[in-house]
Amino acid sequence: MAEGETQAQGAPGAGGVRWRRVRRLLPYYRKSERLQQQLDRIAAELKRTRRELRLVNREATEWQRQIRALEKVVGELRARSGALPLPPRELRVHVGRVPEVANFLAQGLDSSRRVIEVFGPDPGGPVLDWGCGSGRTLTWLKGVGTWDLNYRGCDVDADAIAWLRSQKVKAVEVCGDLPPLPYEDASLAGLFCFSVLTHIPPLRHAEWYAEIRRVLRPGARAYVTVHGDENIRTGKSFTEEERRDYAEKGWSWSERKGHYKHAATVSRAFTVQALASGFEVEAYDELGYHSMDSMILRRI
Ligand SMILES: C[S@@+](CC[C@H](N)C(=O)[O-])C[C@H]1O[C@@H](n2cnc3c(N)ncnc32)[C@H](O)[C@@H]1O
Repeated sequence: MAEGETQAQGAPGAGGVRWRRVRRLLPYYRKSERLQQQLDRIAAELKRTRRELRLVNREATEWQRQIRALEKVVGELRARSGALPLPPRELRVHVGRVPEVANFLAQGLDSSRRVIEVFGPDPGGPVLDWGCGSGRTLTWLKGVGTWDLNYRGCDVDADAIAWLRSQKVKAVEVCGDLPPLPYEDASLAGLFCFSVLTHIPPLRHAEWYAEIRRVLRPGARAYVTVHGDENIRTGKSFTEEERRDYAEKGWSWSERKGHYKHAATVSRAFTVQALASGFEVEAYDELGYHSMDSMILRRI
């Protein structure tokens, strides 16, 4: 209180100070009220989300139960029909990003259908499944037409081949990851490779096409898949350098961890050049097989 001021004079002054303080604090009170309301809304939202999560969890558990039951039924039906059993998970990982049983079976079903479309139920001679892995395609070819007789498989994956042999599949062998293939010149009536060149450096493709040509009979077909333009357009994991390579040279090579998971992406022009003049391209389908371009080649 200033000198000479009485208590009575000071009281309104103190009230003024209090009022100013209240006025200063008022926006904070309002803000805290709004914050409190927001917090209440968030708490209510959280409660709702927890309730929904519990429901989703319950549903997921039920779906998992159904999937296990279906896997059991499919396994039993396949065993009764003489199909190969499922390879162990560590071998399924070698042939795909998603090693789950349903995916392994569905992928094999798709590839085997494609094989039968291209080569028919009776291919008229030995057909090689180059990069056969643990028999994802073979498992659905067994028992179809003359495929038991005509199927041949090879892979660099010695574990996969050992597993197939342990299942009494005789016509499979380990091959090197560079040519030559362990087959005589012009000895095959056909060859297919699902997602094999996709894991081989692009600069080796030309020598592999020449090798495929060597083992095929004149006029025989090859069915080949590669990652093409669409992969680079939509792929999220490419580095700037890999994209630059693709734009400049028509190919990119991405190093990845895991069994033969490195990834080759090649343009159609690059592939046509790599084929040299050894094949007639009967069909080139962009995204013709899942996320890959597919080709039907006829050996000249
Ligand atoms: C993505 S997996 C596809 C397997 C099989 N084609 C399928 O669709 O189930 C690629 C396979 O190619 C095999 N592979 C990679 N390079 C190979 C090569 N140079 N010769 C033979 N197999 C090869 C791998 O071991 C692997 O089994």
